[in-house]
Amino acid sequence: MGRLHPWVGEMAGYSFGWCEVGGAPAVASGGKGVRQALAVLGAEAAGAPTGAGVSAAVAVELVHTFSLLHDDIMDGDTDRRRRPTVWKAYGTGPAVLAGDALFALAVETLAAQPGGAQGVRTLSVALGDLVRGQADDLLFTGRPWTGPKRVRPDEYRAMAEHKTGALLGCAAALGAVLGGAAPGTAAALDRAGRHLGVAFQIVDDVLGIWGDPGVTGKPVHGDLRERKRTFPVLVALDSPQAGRIAALLESGEAPGTAAALIEEAGGRAAALAEARRHLAAVESALAGAPLAADAVSDLRSLLEYLVRRDV
Ligand code: IPE
Ligand code: IPE
Ligand code: MG
Ligand code: MG
Repeated sequence: MGRLHPWVGEMAGYSFGWCEVGGAPAVASGGKGVRQALAVLGAEAAGAPTGAGVSAAVAVELVHTFSLLHDDIMDGDTDRRRRPTVWKAYGTGPAVLAGDALFALAVETLAAQPGGAQGVRTLSVALGDLVRGQADDLLFTGRPWTGPKRVRPDEYRAMAEHKTGALLGCAAALGAVLGGAAPGTAAALDRAGRHLGVAFQIVDDVLGIWGDPGVTGKPVHGDLRERKRTFPVLVALDSPQAGRIAALLESGEAPGTAAALIEEAGGRAAALAEARRHLAAVESALAGAPLAADAVSDLRSLLEYLVRRDV
């Protein structure tokens, strides 16, 4: 990142928690590093060299942070990682540019590795899916809350697999791809990561409604105000209280009341049950591939944390 234009580098450093606006060093917390952990463990599980895992980790975290910079603009969110979002702190145009720079660095990182061409292809496919998922996420907000044109859980699953699962799948598989592992091994890691992504997104949905913003570092009720079709909302819209919940969500008022009604309608419990089902699918994907047992056991600890997390 030291090679970026200094202003762009500052915005990138700010988003990772390394500096304040203006460039003074900071000790703010960055992200959780979930994708880096997944990349290193996925590479280890596939028997790929450590360098492949580390390059994969760097590339996916750069793309992840790039996607967050742009996502916060799309969602109009003002806080992330316990600080004002980059667009809020620097302006929308500069935040778009900083995201682009992170993307370019990710491609450069992979292209410089042995197996880089295949790695860049894998990352590009994931990014194409991420764009597809973000497009559906945005389009869903214009759909009716109830009736035949409402968003169905299956459409949600596809959207979440694309917007979040694709990059988690890429993280898990990228080290294997760079290291030249058998295609079946990389495919199994990708499948595991995609299911993990759906589980992770559903937990993110739950935290977006019932999480503590002091802990998550993101605004609470933002999804409700932005008319997002999150999993708990879809479940509640299929309950006898659907009419009342839809009216509240449509008005955009009293998100706290809407959250309480969604919980009463079983949205929170059903979402966590759905996340658990996707975790079981992660386990099956991992069990069906020839992977190193130690790394798989470390991956399992990560899975548990990701569903129980409050951040
Ligand atoms: C946030 O991801 C975006 C989603 C896909 C839900 P994380 O929750 O992993 O974000 P950081 O990197 O820890 O901030
Ligand atoms: C983020 O989805 C997914 C991507 C950045 C591609 P969300 O919009 O649901 O995630 P948060 O809650 O803002 O982190
Ligand atoms: Mg968002
Ligand atoms: Mg979003």
